[in-house]
Amino acid sequence: MNKQLQEAYDPNAFRKSGHELVDLLADYLTQALSGNKNLATYPSQQPEDAFQFWSAYQLENQNPIPLFEEVLKQSIHLHHPQYMGHQISVPLPVTGLAGFFSSVLNSGMGVYEMGVAGTAIEKVLAKLFAQKIGFGSNADGFFTSGGTLANLTALLAARGSKTSVWKEGMLGQQFAVMVCCESHYCVERALRIMGWGEAGIVSIPSDKQFRMRTDLLEDAFEKAKQEGKTVLGVVGNACSTSTGSYDNLEAIGVFCKKHNLWFHVDGAHGGAAIFSDKYKYLLKGIEAADSVVIDCHKTMMVPTLSTLLLFKNEKKAYQTFSQKAAYLWEKAGEMEWYNLAKRTFECTKSLMGFKLYTILQIHGEAIFGIYIDTIYDLAKQCAQTLKDHAQFELAIEPDANILCFRFRATNLNEEKTNQLNANIRKTLIEKEAFYIVQTSLDGKVYLRTTLMNPFTTVEIFIDLLEEVSSIANVVLNKTA
Ligand SMILES: Cc1ncc(COP(=O)(O)O)c(C=O)c1O
Repeated sequence: MNKQLQEAYDPNAFRKSGHELVDLLADYLTQALSGNKNLATYPSQQPEDAFQFWSAYQLENQNPIPLFEEVLKQSIHLHHPQYMGHQISVPLPVTGLAGFFSSVLNSGMGVYEMGVAGTAIEKVLAKLFAQKIGFGSNADGFFTSGGTLANLTALLAARGSKTSVWKEGMLGQQFAVMVCCESHYCVERALRIMGWGEAGIVSIPSDKQFRMRTDLLEDAFEKAKQEGKTVLGVVGNACSTSTGSYDNLEAIGVFCKKHNLWFHVDGAHGGAAIFSDKYKYLLKGIEAADSVVIDCHKTMMVPTLSTLLLFKNEKKAYQTFSQKAAYLWEKAGEMEWYNLAKRTFECTKSLMGFKLYTILQIHGEAIFGIYIDTIYDLAKQCAQTLKDHAQFELAIEPDANILCFRFRATNLNEEKTNQLNANIRKTLIEKEAFYIVQTSLDGKVYLRTTLMNPFTTVEIFIDLLEEVSSIANVVLNKTA
C-alpha cells in the first residue's frame, strides 16, 4: 500500500479532527443562534478578493480545522437570527451529523445495490408525503437534486404521459404549458430545455396578491389552441418565489380535469405546509395534482440538496425516461421502484432522504408543522409591524414566510424610490449585521425578507427596520 494513501485514510486522524470539528460547529451554533453581534451575518467580500484569498490559501499542516475555521468566517450564517435572505433552510444540527455520516458512506443510490437502506428510506418518505398531500395508494416519488431539476423532471413526465416525443421527437408539434407569470424562472427554463421555445410558455397574469388569475385560464387555453399549440398542462405555484403567494390549486385542478391536462404543483418553497394543521388550507386542492415538488432544503430544516418529486400515479414517473443501461439493471422495461435511476436524472445520487429521515426519527413529524407555524406566524406579525410604520409600504399581506416591503420618502418619484431601496439593501448587507434580499414587483423595487430562521423575532425585525430607516436617512441626506 502506498504510504501517502494509507495516511490519507487514517481513521485515527479522522477521529481526532472529527471531534474538533464537532466542537467548532457546536460553538459556532451557540454563537450564531444567540444572535451574537460579533458574528457577521454576511461576510461582505468582493468576488475577486475572495478568489485571490483562496488562490493564495495554504494550509500549514494536515490538520483541516484551520481550513474549516476560515471557511466559516467567510460564509453567510443562516443560523444567525439576523439572516432573513434567500429561501435556504436553517438546518437542524442533527442533519449535519447525518450529512457527515452519509458522506463517509457515499452510497451511490442509482441502483438498489448501491443504496440498500437509502433507497428504502426514500420510499418511506415519499409514501409519507403522498399521504400528507392526500394522494391515494398508487402514489410514489423520489428525491432529486433540487427544485429546478425536479420541476424539469415533472414536466418531462407530463410530456411522456401525453405525447410520444421520447420515441418520435417533436414531429413539428408545438407543445405548451400554462403557468402564472410569477412562477420561478426554472419552470420557463425547463420548457425551453424541452425545446418548446418561447411559444411553449403560456403565461397567465397574476392578481394583486400575485396569485394566478385562474379566471383567465379558459381564454388563454382557447387562444393557445387557435395558435396551433397543444397545451399539455398547468403549473400552480405553492407558493411563488418573490412574494410567497399560493395559487388557487383547487381552481387549477378543476380546469385541468375538465381539459384532461397534467396538473403540476411547484411546492418547492411552500409545499411543506402540508405538515401544518394551521396552514395546510393554503394547499387546498393539491390532492388533484399529477405531480408535486417539495424542497425539503427550503422549509423543512434539511440542508441542500433534498427535493421530493411526488406522483399521484407512480406509473407515470416511469414514462419520463425509458432507456436501456445493461450495466445498471437487467430488466430495463420494468417498474422497479428500488432502482431509482429509472426515474431520476441522476445516475449517481447521494443519500438525499437520509437527513430528513433522521429528523423524523429524532423529533417526529410534528416538528415540521411547528416550524411552518412559527415562520408563517412571524411573517404575519412582522407585516403588522410594517403597517404601523408610516415610512414603510408592505407589498402584500403574506401567505407564507416571505415579506416584501419598501421604504417610502415623501417627494420621491418611483424611479428615485427604486434607487433608494436598492441603495438601502446594498448598504445594509455591506454592514454585515443583517442579510436580506430585494425583488422587483410590477417594476417597483422592494426589500425582501424570507423569515427562514425560527430564532428571528419581531423585535429583531424591528431592529432591521430601524437600521433600514437610518440608512435611508443617510442616503437621502447625501443626495439632498
Ligand atoms: C417556487 C420555486 N420553485 C423552484 C425553485 C428552484 O428550486 P432549487 O433552488 O431547489 O433548484 C425555487 C427556488 O427558490 C422556488 O422558489
